[in-house]
Amino acid sequence: MCGIVGAVAKRNVVPILVQGLLRLEYRGYDSAGLVVVSDHKLHRVRSTGRVAELAEKSAHTTGNIGIAHTRWATHGVPSERNAHPHMSCDLIAVVHNGIIENYEELRTQLTAQGYIFGSDTDTEVIAHLIHSYYTNGHDLLGSTQAALAKLVGAYAIGVVAADNPQKLIGARKGSPLLLGVGEGEHFIASDMSALLQVTQKVVYLEEGDVVELALADYRIFDAKGVEVKRPVNISELNNESVELGEYQHYMQKEIHEQPQALANTLESVCNSQSLIPGIFGAEAADAFDQIDSILILACGTSHHAGMVARYWLEELAAIPCVVEIASEYRYRTSVANPRTLVVTISQSGETADTLAALNHAKAIGHLHTLAVCNVPESAIIRQSKLRLLTRAGPEIGVASTKAFTTQLAALFLLTLVLAKQRGKLDMQQEQQHLHDLRHLPSAVMAVLKLEPEIAKLAKQFADKHHALFLGRGLHYPIALEGALKLKEISYIHAEAYPAGELKHGPLALVDKDMPVVAVAPNDTLLEKLKSNLQEVRARGGELFVFADAETRIHSSEGVHVMQMPEHAGFLSPILHTIPLQLLAYYVALQKGTDVDKPRNLAKSVTVE
Ligand code: F6R
Repeated sequence: MCGIVGAVAKRNVVPILVQGLLRLEYRGYDSAGLVVVSDHKLHRVRSTGRVAELAEKSAHTTGNIGIAHTRWATHGVPSERNAHPHMSCDLIAVVHNGIIENYEELRTQLTAQGYIFGSDTDTEVIAHLIHSYYTNGHDLLGSTQAALAKLVGAYAIGVVAADNPQKLIGARKGSPLLLGVGEGEHFIASDMSALLQVTQKVVYLEEGDVVELALADYRIFDAKGVEVKRPVNISELNNESVELGEYQHYMQKEIHEQPQALANTLESVCNSQSLIPGIFGAEAADAFDQIDSILILACGTSHHAGMVARYWLEELAAIPCVVEIASEYRYRTSVANPRTLVVTISQSGETADTLAALNHAKAIGHLHTLAVCNVPESAIIRQSKLRLLTRAGPEIGVASTKAFTTQLAALFLLTLVLAKQRGKLDMQQEQQHLHDLRHLPSAVMAVLKLEPEIAKLAKQFADKHHALFLGRGLHYPIALEGALKLKEISYIHAEAYPAGELKHGPLALVDKDMPVVAVAPNDTLLEKLKSNLQEVRARGGELFVFADAETRIHSSEGVHVMQMPEHAGFLSPILHTIPLQLLAYYVALQKGTDVDKPRNLAKSVTVE
C-alpha cells in the first residue's frame, strides 16, 4: 500500500508530485506529504487526510527535485508526524512503501547512536540509517545501498539529500517502483498512472534494483550492486484510461467499462476458431498434461472469482479443485501434490498474502503455477510459470468490479482449455462456448441498462443496518461478492449464505428490517431457491430478487423483482454480478460515503 512519486526536472516538480499522488491515492489515503530540495534545504509539507489538502498546503512550495507519498498506515496512527517523507537531521528525506520487519532492532541501535525519532513509523529508521552512512563519507547512492543491506522486509523508496539538489535515489524490493524517462527529466513512481502526465516511457525496475536519477541520465544497479541496463518500454496506458471522464466516480466508470474490459480479455480467443493452451504460455500444454488437480489461492474479491471457477472446473473439466484464502494457506501445514496446478488470482499482482501463498506453494513442492492477473509487470505474474492477463485496464476504485468479471472470463477460458485437453469438450460444445463468450460483452451491456431501476431500489437500503445475500451453486460466490461490495462501500453490514443454509441458523435474523437480496438465475436450482425465498417471506423479510427471464418470480407485497435477461448458462455469474455492483454503488451514493476510497481500506494490499 502507499504510493510514491519522485521527480528531478528543470521545472518546478511540486505540481507533478501532487498530480502523481492524486493518481496513486487508491493505494492509501490517510495522509500525504512531499519534500523538495531548494537552497540546500529540505522543504517538507505534510497533511493528514487527502492529497487535495496537501495540494493546498504546498501551493507555494517550489523545487526542481522532490519526493512525495500518500499513506495507508501500518506503523503508527494516521497523523502528520507519521506522514512521509521522514527526515533525518534535516539532511536526508525518505518516502517508503512496504514494511521493514527488523525496524525495532534498528531503532534501538540508531537511538543508541543518538538519533532522535520523531514518528512511530518503521520508515524513519531508513532515513537515519542513510544519514549515518552519508555523514560517514558515502555518497547518496552508496549510503542508500549500505542502508538497504541492513533492512529485512519489503520496500520501495525514494531518497533525497538537502545538500545534493542533483540526485534522487529510488530502490525496490518486494514493493513496486518504476522509472519514468522524460526529456532531460526523470521520475519514479509506484505505478505508471502517476507518470502519464509527464511521460509514456517506463523502465520496470527488478527486485533489488537501486536507481540514481539525475536531470540528464539515470543509472541502475542490481541487487548485487552491479550497474545494469534495463529496457525502456512505452506504456500502453494513456491519460484517458485513468481520467474520470463523464462519470461521478471511478467505481461507476469501471462498472460501465466491463463490456470493453471483457472484450479485451477475451480478444485473442474470440477471434480464433478454437481454444489452445498456448494462451496461458508456451509451456502450458505440457504442464496441463501433467496435472490432476487445481489449487486456487487468492484474497477478497479475487477469492470469490476462484470460488466460481471451482464449480466450472469440476463440472466442465472434471478436475478436482480446492479454493483457499491465501492468508490462511500460507500459514497452514498442507500436503503438496506435485501434480496440482496452483492458480493465483489477483487484480494487482502485488497482494502480499497471495504472493506469499504462491511462494509457499512452490517451497513445499508444487511445480506448476499459473497467475490470473491484471498487471503485466507484477510480482505474481513474474513469479508464475504460466499466466493469463485480464485486460481490464487500470482499476482505480478501491472496490473491485471490472477486475472481478474479467477474472471470471479468464477462469472460464482456463476451464474450457482444460476440459478440451482432458477430452471433456467436443467440437460442437467448444464452438457453443466460444459463441457465448463472443456474446458476453453485449449481454453485460444489456444488464447495465438496469442502472436507473437499481438506483431507485437503492433508496430502500439507505436506512438499513444489515442485509443478507442469498445464492445457490455457481451463484453463491456471487452473493458473497454482492455482500462484500455493499459492506465495503456503504458500511452496511452484509452477509451472504448459500440459500439452502438459511434454515440452519441465519433465518433467525430475518425480520422486516433485514433486506434479503437473492440471486435467482433460471438454472436447475431455481425451484429450491424459490422455496428458500418463501421461508424468508414467511418471516416478514423483504426480498430483492435479481431474477432471470422466465423464472416466474413476480413483484408483490414485500418482494421486489429486478428482471434480468435470459439465463446465460455457465456465464450467468458474470451477468448477475453487475446489478449487485450497481446496487452497492447506489446505496453508497445514498449514504454519502466516499465510494472510491472507503474508510480504512486501500487498493493494493502489499502488507500482511
Ligand atoms: C474488494 C477488493 C479486495 C481485493 C483483495 C485482493 O473489492 O478489491 O477484496 O479483491 O484485496 O486484491 P488483488 O486482487 O489485487 O490480489
